[in-house]
Amino acid sequence: MLLNIVRHLRATSEKPTSTDYEVIDALVPDRVSELLKGWTSPIIPQIQQAAFDPLLRQMRAGNPRQDFVALATAMNMIGLANPLLIEVGCGSGWNREVLACLWKRPFRYVGLDYSPGMTDLGKQRYPDTKFAVGDATCLPFQDGACDILLSGTVLMHLLGYQQAIWESCRLTRQWCIFHTVPVLQHRKTTILSKKAYSQPTIEVIFNERELYRLFEQNRLVVRKVIDSMPYNLESVLGEPTFNKTYLCQKIA
Ligand SMILES: C[S@@+](CC[C@H](N)C(=O)[O-])C[C@H]1O[C@@H](n2cnc3c(N)ncnc32)[C@H](O)[C@@H]1O
Repeated sequence: MLLNIVRHLRATSEKPTSTDYEVIDALVPDRVSELLKGWTSPIIPQIQQAAFDPLLRQMRAGNPRQDFVALATAMNMIGLANPLLIEVGCGSGWNREVLACLWKRPFRYVGLDYSPGMTDLGKQRYPDTKFAVGDATCLPFQDGACDILLSGTVLMHLLGYQQAIWESCRLTRQWCIFHTVPVLQHRKTTILSKKAYSQPTIEVIFNERELYRLFEQNRLVVRKVIDSMPYNLESVLGEPTFNKTYLCQKIA
């Protein structure tokens, strides 16, 4: 497997992370279940980490990427002391490091990912951090388990995004951050297939009004919207798309 990873890194060092976008018009069950498993490929964790290591170094050197800043900006709006934060779709947990570097306040962190390869790598890199394996649509935690539910650049990879928003709201006592969500204004919410780190997966581009409706249906009020990494799929979808980070507060 190591050889595969090295080969992949050489072959893709010049390629973008995401390629081969196509709109999915009909959800064919076998094809969809293959796409939904894409991120569990055992080769992704090392490849993804290799892509993020230079970004983390740049951040430590004082030049953080825009999505890292967006996350810290959302956290700045939350006035909780030492909150418990659960990150869903945590990968190997680098957002813990991002928050320690850019937010700089005490917090407790648990990372969850559906790929055991991601959480194993996370345990190696951050041995004092708790990680769990589980699916965003069926979270293995009790109601009100955390102060802040961070949906970490994962909502767009879930066909069950409605259920994932419901689960996020169930888990949090007060705040949800839906980080780096791709949105558009005119088309309805649209499902694409693409390759991420050369593995087939799905990507949901949300109609922003539909997304707000889902938040409202789950008693989530948007308190702040922050621009995240630029992400324009106009050539695929015929209109500009944007990545945004939504800070939502749960109301009674
Ligand atoms: C783009 S990475 C985001 C990593 C990091 N949270 C960030 O914000 O940069 C998406 C992560 O979501 C995970 N993921 C995909 N589908 C998932 C699911 N159904 N449940 C939990 N995690 C999932 C992937 O394994 C991957 O680690």
